[in-house]
Amino acid sequence: MDLVLVGLPGSGKSVVGRRIAARRRAEFIDLDDLIERQTGRTVQSIFADEGEAGFRRAEHDAVKSLGPAGTDPSLTRVIATGGGSVIDPRNRWLLYRGRFPVWLDGSPEILTSRLARSANVRPLVTGPDPVGTMRKLAAERRRFYAPGLQVSGTVHVEAILRTLETRLDDGTPAATSLLRADTAIGRVEIGHGIAATAVASALTRAEARRAILLAEPKTWDVAGSAIADALADDGWPVERVMLPRGENAKRLHVIEETCRALARLRVDRRETLVAIGGGALTDAAGFAAATYLRGVPIVHVPTTLVGQIDAALGGKTAVDIPEGKNLIGAFHQPVAFIADVALLATLPARQRRAALGEAVKMGVLGDDRLLEVIEEEGVAFARGSNAPIESGAIAEIVERCVWAKVEVVTADERESGVRMTLNLGHTIGHGVEAAAGYKAILHGEAVAYGLRGAFAIARSMNLTTPERERRVNHLLDRLGLAVDPPAVALDAVWERMSTDKKHAHGRLNWVVPTESGVAVRSDVPAEAVEAGLAAALRLAPPEPIRSEAGLR
Ligand SMILES: NC(=O)c1ccc[n+]([C@@H]2O[C@H](COP(=O)([O-])OP(=O)(O)OC[C@H]3O[C@@H](n4cnc5c(N)ncnc54)[C@H](O)[C@@H]3O)[C@@H](O)[C@H]2O)c1
Repeated sequence: MDLVLVGLPGSGKSVVGRRIAARRRAEFIDLDDLIERQTGRTVQSIFADEGEAGFRRAEHDAVKSLGPAGTDPSLTRVIATGGGSVIDPRNRWLLYRGRFPVWLDGSPEILTSRLARSANVRPLVTGPDPVGTMRKLAAERRRFYAPGLQVSGTVHVEAILRTLETRLDDGTPAATSLLRADTAIGRVEIGHGIAATAVASALTRAEARRAILLAEPKTWDVAGSAIADALADDGWPVERVMLPRGENAKRLHVIEETCRALARLRVDRRETLVAIGGGALTDAAGFAAATYLRGVPIVHVPTTLVGQIDAALGGKTAVDIPEGKNLIGAFHQPVAFIADVALLATLPARQRRAALGEAVKMGVLGDDRLLEVIEEEGVAFARGSNAPIESGAIAEIVERCVWAKVEVVTADERESGVRMTLNLGHTIGHGVEAAAGYKAILHGEAVAYGLRGAFAIARSMNLTTPERERRVNHLLDRLGLAVDPPAVALDAVWERMSTDKKHAHGRLNWVVPTESGVAVRSDVPAEAVEAGLAAALRLAPPEPIRSEAGLR
């Protein structure tokens, strides 16, 4: 077993690491020393010659060279990491999986004064406001360190070793927590195999007296029953409320039945519900939680990729009525959002592929690395391979989408401004999805049509580059998304777009790709919309569009 020390610069990782290693006759590895040995250069010279990007590359190589976590149950290695090494999700996957991370947490004031006294003064404390810089760094990085055992104040090596030994008695850790953050929209936790323990700790934080699990038949089989067993083993009384599978959960009569089941269980206002399922289940359970007793807390455990990167986060809950999808709903933030990527292993290929349509959209909003990881490993995952779950690629995709959404939603919870950018690809996408009667085409598949359309609009307005458009279209091709013309009539898509919610005073706001991100425009000319629709529906050459529908 390897022990991995993480924390801000100056938190004492190397000093403490050496002491722990000496105490247990384990090997000690300082990641910065390893980088210097492997590159034959000093950390300072790498920074000077290649900047931070060059240093991070060398650091990632060094982390990879540590090899897989061993199965030896005794402490074999102690690894002191650099303060920024765990920013990269790939490094966190490698450093935390099967290892024992310990977070040396210190106050920014103490860390700054320690660094100022160090012979090798770090550039970050030489500026005009070193404590302010350190505070900012602490706020930005906390979520990456938080999965580790938190050691604040004086470090007691023996106490760390005692905790390690209790953990070792339980065998090699099967669960890996990769990110934990307390945000304005609830606690966010991402990991592999974490669902049951993260639910238990959410319930403990909520001072719950029992676990009330809401699921549907499929998600109960693939996730719910194992979570229930683990909670019961842990001593929790477990109650179960079943909703119908898929979109059938999003019906008003289901909400009534769910609330009646809660009432029969005498669930009171202080009790916390736990929703386990895809976007349809968390939308419906979330709406029940928003309205039962005028609102009870809920924890979301999404079991689909759509749920993990989008639906279960952000507080939108809704049910459908015959007149339209999601027309009745409420904003109700979950107290905790738990994305366990291990739950995705049973997801059918079509669900994976469609969800990646949304992930590509998040990449186009301005995260190039997200597009890259989808290019590298998303395609295999879309075809049904679980190797990208085991390599950490899916955790990285989930984390990148989740954090981008956390930032956008916390800036604009009620969708009045920046949150609108998340609607990239959704104007045409919703038109396609609605024209297909919300049945034949999945949401993410429709978004992929919309993305192709949004790029064609941007191209005709000279807002993006041909290379960017080609890159995204090629990726959609490889994912098998929006490849064939959808089985919908152009008129029907047009009609549905005209009734889209994104109209502001009669004008449609379009989210369009730019050179490196997106812009919201209400001045998209009719010809550009025509070109966009033609590209989206894979029509060539573009068909003339009726102008009397009033779209611009
Ligand atoms: N609230 C929001 O912000 C938001 C955002 C996007 C989408 N949504 C909503 O989400 C819904 C779509 O969600 P979805 O794509 O997750 O679909 P879904 O919830 O209908 O699940 C799709 C299918 O996958 C099955 N399933 C779930 N988890 C599984 C697993 N781990 N292994 C095998 N099968 C599994 C389900 O039983 C179902 O048959 C739509 O209703 C949409 O409106 C909401």
